Amino acid sequence: MTRAAVLRDTGAPLSIEDVDLAPTGPGQVRVRLRATGVCHSDLSIVRGALRHPMPAVPGHEGAGVVVDVGSDVTTVKPGDHVTLNWTPACGGCFFCARNEPWLCDRAAADALAAPYATSKGEALAPVLGAGAFAEETLVLERAVVRIPKDVPFEIAALVGCAVTTGFGAVVNTAKVRRGDSVVVIGCGGVGLSIVQGARYAGAETIVAVDLSKDKRALAKDLGATDTVDGTEDVEAAVRALTQGRGADHAFEAIGRGATIRTAYRLTRRGGNVVVVGAGRYDDKVEFSALELFFQARSLVGCVYGSADVTRDFPRILSLYASGELDLDRLITGRIPLDDVNEALDAMERGVGARTVVVFAETS
Ligand code: APR
Ligand code: ZN
Ligand code: ZN
Repeated sequence: MTRAAVLRDTGAPLSIEDVDLAPTGPGQVRVRLRATGVCHSDLSIVRGALRHPMPAVPGHEGAGVVVDVGSDVTTVKPGDHVTLNWTPACGGCFFCARNEPWLCDRAAADALAAPYATSKGEALAPVLGAGAFAEETLVLERAVVRIPKDVPFEIAALVGCAVTTGFGAVVNTAKVRRGDSVVVIGCGGVGLSIVQGARYAGAETIVAVDLSKDKRALAKDLGATDTVDGTEDVEAAVRALTQGRGADHAFEAIGRGATIRTAYRLTRRGGNVVVVGAGRYDDKVEFSALELFFQARSLVGCVYGSADVTRDFPRILSLYASGELDLDRLITGRIPLDDVNEALDAMERGVGARTVVVFAETS
């Protein structure tokens, strides 16, 4: 028996329930969570903007301790500290063979097909194969990455989604270079990680756009050279900061058609537009045939920071250890599992950067 926050109906609050995890099968690992970040994708699933099978246990940005492993598990053992990987790549499909594990076409289906948990006799689904809004979870072996024991769990948790997504978008997807100009729309946990990635990459101009004054101030502290209020004329402000041309790179870290459209306009001819936010399937963006040709911009989607997590989690954690990434500042709140609905409400209102659900060491 373990306590978990269960999504039974989109729009309804999560209900805290006692759930029964299945026995740890071959290729599976049982993890006692110590910290789980509240990510906007959880909010989108809970509110129905992103679809997911239900009933389900959300939470996909987690870290904890391995408590049990299945018969053939070789990469971790009980007592190991791990960060969850929400794209547990299969290693064998077309995309995995191309070293693009973030696009693995079996990860989601395999994670949902594995035995997981029941509540009141009803089968539950672990959101994104993680189910981390719970004291314990049962995941595929490939959904955990071992981490050094001196890493704080709350930092390890954020590396499981927001940090890798944002940092990876800059370093892996856009390949920002020293001296480049960058604009980031949306400065939540993901956008602030883009700002830090851009600073790490040596971008000369880093413009952070958000509706919230607090987020803009935090972005400035974490490396933004300039900030713009999202309610103002963002295009004029960015052009004024980029010799009238527009930025080399624009990152959209909200997940809305309107702000993707803005991001496109903020780049120079031949610039790079990166869609990091996960928007609704029915939220449309319009481009004219002429501008797509004439502006010669690249418009790319970025899933999970185009990261190979077995390489990028350790890399990011070592940049944290050396002080090159200030991940502590991303955390603006710590809560018990029972308060997860309030944290989702606050995120919806744009309040706070990252709230982390913190779990006690033992139950
Ligand atoms: N203009 C500028 N900023 C905006 C706007 C807007 N029109 N609308 C929202 N924002 C800001 C909010 O104020 C908030 O700071 O965008 C930020 C979004 O941050 P979070 O809600 O914390 O979301 P985060 O977890 O960072 O995820 C961002 O990435 O992984 C995806 O699904 C995730 O689509 C989501 C995106
Ligand atoms: Zn694969
Ligand atoms: Zn996430």
